[in-house]
Amino acid sequence: PPLSEILNLHDFEAIAKDVMHEKAWAYYSSAADDEITNRENHAAFHRIWFRPRILRDVTQVDWSTTILGQKSSMPLYITATALGKLGHPDGELNLTRAAAKHGIIQMIPTLASCSFDEIVDAAQPGQNQFLQLYVNKDRAITKRIVEHAEERGIKGLFITVDAPQLGRREKDMRQKFEAEDPSEVSKSGQQSGVDRSQGAARAISSFIDPSLSWADLKWFKSITKMPLILKGVQCWEDALEAYDNNMAGVVLSNHGGRQLDFARSGIEILVEVVTKLKEKRGLTFPNEKFQLFVDGGVRRATDVLKAVALGATAVGVGRPFLYAYSSYGADGMDKALQILHDEFEMNMRLLGARSMKEVVPEMVDASNIHTH
Ligand code: FNR
Repeated sequence: PPLSEILNLHDFEAIAKDVMHEKAWAYYSSAADDEITNRENHAAFHRIWFRPRILRDVTQVDWSTTILGQKSSMPLYITATALGKLGHPDGELNLTRAAAKHGIIQMIPTLASCSFDEIVDAAQPGQNQFLQLYVNKDRAITKRIVEHAEERGIKGLFITVDAPQLGRREKDMRQKFEAEDPSEVSKSGQQSGVDRSQGAARAISSFIDPSLSWADLKWFKSITKMPLILKGVQCWEDALEAYDNNMAGVVLSNHGGRQLDFARSGIEILVEVVTKLKEKRGLTFPNEKFQLFVDGGVRRATDVLKAVALGATAVGVGRPFLYAYSSYGADGMDKALQILHDEFEMNMRLLGARSMKEVVPEMVDASNIHTH
């Protein structure tokens, strides 16, 4: 169907399933084991309801915000997803270009299909990017990546902490990953001892260091001035530990349901993190010094507004953008962001919030968030 018939982010998924190469669809859409967490990610948003305010002058509404000190036109960013060229020959550059046009931030994955420099070079002057880091068993390689990222102006380093081993994504494992076309494999040059018999994820992930621990965070602080954020925190105890270790923030995430099945959704974890960090450290959110992010299952501006109301600075969006550009190229990604802008405008008016500051906890009823 023509792009003009696409009304929301879910529509891209339905089309992508039809038009994408079977292997690419398997890698992008798959999640761990029985995919219960993947389903729960979006479903959890359905347990939060709004308490809108009326009779406020909502002629002007502004949904822009600041993420780790950088301006963003929306309280969301493009999260890191590996192997961008599986879906479209321009891969991650589709995301870079749309991010420039719409004033949002792209998180570059360690395992991008395009090289890191290619993606940074494609950015417009003043366009901000983050880097997602998988920590290599060879720390010299990791150190080089981090130092190079800082030199190239990366504004935040998101260390993935929920993947000491890749989850079992059976849909992907059923596909033999034969990357005859070198553009299909990640250009990070990190893969060693590649086993192509068990899907794309297994083939590219063997370099990740399962020995990574809290003690390593001091080393990261010593090699970079970039803000450090832990991506994949799943309970308040670890969020507190991250705060005590001087991290700039955490992403409450289960990796899009691709790691531990039956992990809880990020939005549910957010509620307990906000409550406990207030109790234990007197923190209130959103908080500039320690920022909370959520990803997983975000498909509507209303999902984003719920997360912001509950204390998140911003949320990450993954698969919908992959599906948008895999189906329609750069125009699809452009359309996806336009849809989100339109949804923000309307829903902020209906909510009675004129700025992100006015999206407050009283605007949501999350009292049933823990009922599964
Ligand atoms: C991911 N994600 C991910 N995370 C990460 O830290 N490093 C990575 O290389 C990848 N790769 C990746 C590939 C694909 C195809 C997907 C779908 C996801 C996880 C990602 O950053 C994020 O946590 C989820 O995608 C968020 O869920 P939604 O928005 O896809 O539902």
